[in-house]
Amino acid sequence: MDRLLADQNDVIVFDNLLTGRVENIEHHLGDPLFKFVKQDVTEYLHVGGPLDAVVHFASPASPVDYLQLPIQTLKVGSLGTHKALGLAKEKGARFLLTSTSEIYGDPLVHPQT
Ligand SMILES: NC(=O)c1ccc[n+]([C@@H]2O[C@H](COP(=O)([O-])OP(=O)(O)OC[C@H]3O[C@@H](n4cnc5c(N)ncnc54)[C@H](O)[C@@H]3O)[C@@H](O)[C@H]2O)c1
Repeated sequence: MDRLLADQNDVIVFDNLLTGRVENIEHHLGDPLFKFVKQDVTEYLHVGGPLDAVVHFASPASPVDYLQLPIQTLKVGSLGTHKALGLAKEKGARFLLTSTSEIYGDPLVHPQT
């Protein structure tokens, strides 16, 4: 995100702050290129105007969080992906998803290669 803004791209962030902290993006809040929407991405995503890319990074993102928030983890990875894909389809935008590491199953080698 820092790189995208430094390169003069408009960036809109949707985050419900379930496991994130607003302090992580505080330094961008006055930037006219940057917009923060506090929203759960499993809900309908609306963006006015064109979009080049949709990047779906939203998820609890640690084994501790997965155990404490199992439903939210599954929901953002399934329904959240569905909503983000819907937005990308509507806008003809490229789509990037980062999955949780749970996709690998139980590793035979740790740390994973
Ligand atoms: N596969 C891997 O090995 C691997 C490794 C690292 C990260 N990742 C994935 O990359 C992504 C980003 O990781 P990160 O380290 O930047 O995590 P992060 O915790 O910094 O950011 C994830 C954000 O998602 C938000 N979020 C969670 N549920 C949400 C929802 N329903 N709606 C809106 N926002 C929601 C959280 O509040 C948090 O701010 C995650 O999906 C993570 O699982 C995967």
